[in-house]
Amino acid sequence: MTNIANSSGTFDIGGDLPVVRLGYGTMQLPGEGVWGPAKDHDTAMTVLRRSVELGITFFDTADSYGPETAEQLLKDALHPYADDVVIATKAGLTRQGPHIWTPVGYPPYLRQQCELSLRRLGVETIDLFQLHRIDAAYPLEDQVGEFKALQDEGKVRHIGLSEVSVEQIKAAREVAEITTVQNLYNLANRSSEDVLDYCEAEGIGFIPWFPLATGELSKEDGPLAEAAKRHDATPSQLALAWLLRRSPVMLPIPGTSSVAHLESNTAAAGIELTDEEFSALSDLG
Ligand SMILES: NC(=O)c1ccc[n+]([C@@H]2O[C@H](COP(=O)([O-])OP(=O)(O)OC[C@H]3O[C@@H](n4cnc5c(N)ncnc54)[C@H](OP(=O)(O)O)[C@@H]3O)[C@@H](O)[C@H]2O)c1
Repeated sequence: MTNIANSSGTFDIGGDLPVVRLGYGTMQLPGEGVWGPAKDHDTAMTVLRRSVELGITFFDTADSYGPETAEQLLKDALHPYADDVVIATKAGLTRQGPHIWTPVGYPPYLRQQCELSLRRLGVETIDLFQLHRIDAAYPLEDQVGEFKALQDEGKVRHIGLSEVSVEQIKAAREVAEITTVQNLYNLANRSSEDVLDYCEAEGIGFIPWFPLATGELSKEDGPLAEAAKRHDATPSQLALAWLLRRSPVMLPIPGTSSVAHLESNTAAAGIELTDEEFSALSDLG
């Protein structure tokens, strides 16, 4: 199974930062409610190191996962990073307890979080820094403007957005080059279809979070079960293969705290759907 992720192909973020398209999201590693230390530190280390063995190069994280826990785990497991490892982190959401997420887009706060992520990750430049949420309390131009200032200072290589509309992406692009967008998207929830189409037309990477609908699409009796049997695959693998097939700018980052699920999810990179299978699955969603 070594390097199986490579079968998903590559995408160049911002035209110059290649990643293997099927990545890994770290949000399942901290404690319950994405709060506190890792559920199991040793397993978290194994999951992250096994990801690299499987050919995954693109890791999604955030200052707020834990908070701090997920970034620290990445450093513990993978530092010094292999040359092809790309870490995408985020700032702009604060935490007041398990399951609670509150946007804060005050520019000096965003800068502070960038500095702390640089320290926690043990890097001089963040490969991809994503504004986790646009905070309505501050002008969009000031929030993206702070990211641009960090980029001009060499602290950030590429800038991404999360949970945005096409209009917001266009407004942000007036301030800085936007190379990725991370929105909720999966086979069963395609409310960001217009954003995906815009990203594809503009060569912007689209990172679908919730790619497995937090396990909902993985169920053996779920909507993908029949089609999965025909393909000799699991429902999760089919959901991921469908995403990869949907667009060349699609960069899925399935999250898991389990080595077995990681290996199974990554094997989805090797599943090729025919045109008929792709449209049948699209109709299911
Ligand atoms: N930008 C944003 O606002 C935002 C929001 C949410 C998430 N994200 C990012 O997106 C990534 C993915 O989203 P997500 O982790 O919420 O959701 P997800 O990847 O759709 O699903 C993760 C859930 O599915 C389970 N799962 C994973 N693989 C499985 C398999 N093969 N069989 C059965 N169950 C499986 C996991 O449990 P186990 O741990 O037991 O495998 C976990 O409960 C996150 O890790 C994070 O990096 C971003």
